Amino acid sequence: MKVTLSVIKADVGGYVGHSSMHPEIVDIAKESLSLAKTGGKLIDYDVLHCGDDLDLIMTHTMGEEAGEIHKLAWDTFVKCTEKAKELKLYGAGQDLLSDAFSGNVKGLGPGVAEMEFEERRSDPVIIFMADKTSPGAWNFPLYKMFGDPFNTAGLVIDPHMHDGFLFNVLDVYENKIVTFSLPEELYDALVFIGAMEHYIIKSIVRKSDNEIAAVSSTQKLNFLAGKYVGKDDPVLIVRAQSGFPAVGEVLEPFTFPHLVAGWMRGSHMGPFMPVTFKTANPSRFDGPPRVIAAGYQIAEGKLIGPRDMFDDPSFDNARAMANDMADYMRRHGSFEPHRLPLEDMEYTTLPEVKKKLEGRFKTNE
Ligand code: 13P
Ligand code: 13P
Ligand code: MG
Ligand code: MG
Repeated sequence: MKVTLSVIKADVGGYVGHSSMHPEIVDIAKESLSLAKTGGKLIDYDVLHCGDDLDLIMTHTMGEEAGEIHKLAWDTFVKCTEKAKELKLYGAGQDLLSDAFSGNVKGLGPGVAEMEFEERRSDPVIIFMADKTSPGAWNFPLYKMFGDPFNTAGLVIDPHMHDGFLFNVLDVYENKIVTFSLPEELYDALVFIGAMEHYIIKSIVRKSDNEIAAVSSTQKLNFLAGKYVGKDDPVLIVRAQSGFPAVGEVLEPFTFPHLVAGWMRGSHMGPFMPVTFKTANPSRFDGPPRVIAAGYQIAEGKLIGPRDMFDDPSFDNARAMANDMADYMRRHGSFEPHRLPLEDMEYTTLPEVKKKLEGRFKTNE
């Protein structure tokens, strides 16, 4: 059976500030998707949140970029925004950039990761959802899962993975996609994907049969009128086992809380902390950046789960390390590399301050 898994997310308002999600918002989203399931539009659904980002997880048979599914997500976010406005939640409707839906949520603010696949005999899927960071945050763990044999033993010992994977990488400045074939082009790929705010891994397919393995929410990223829009709070779908990395290989990269861009005012580097659903409420300096992992078995399109995959003491060391790193990075205050380079900050006073000081900059003779 062919099934489509669509994960569509938006920040419709934070509780309190940008730290978390009000429970009534989740209830409204569940009710909206429940009606769509009863009406036959969806096979199944789930609603989760990471920090102030609401994640709609939906299965159906309409394929990727289906207008009906995108409209359902959009209408759900609009309903949630109405409640967020009533409760005066922070930044109500923050990610709904347009007043009118025009067939597809791409470019309207919400983030989207979708994949259509033939359901296997058993189909484990991990959905990662993040807050206080940008889609470039997935580059490092995706490289580890699908490119690094020290992380993924299957690249060496599973005959179905041994040929490697194709990495489709988006240049967010030029809006162009380039494909790298790993392992042969590993060194070429790393030149680009190491620059995670410029080149972002969009999807990964298995080389032996072109089967989709992973998709991230890079679609809304673009450079509009000289400004980089849609930098925030990404989701990622990864398929596991039987010719893909094992569930444990998919999770292993998050034992290292690598530094990502985001955190306070979207303008700081900080450690990417793997947390449980319950503790996905970034509060310290609006962070540090968080990631949750929801595991599902897909059965005839039904979402059997979620299992809270980071609810495991074996991620305690990563969390402790992330807290130490957060202390270390915070002490830099306004200095790089804690604060992002001037051109990468989401908030900036640079133009005004520069203007104010016009004429005070003298040529250095
Ligand atoms: P099981 O033998 O428990 O199915 O595990 C297989 C495997 O690949 C674990 O990584
Ligand atoms: P969000 O992108 O999660 O809304 O966070 C914005 C922010 O400025 C946090 O300090
Ligand atoms: Mg917010
Ligand atoms: Mg957020």
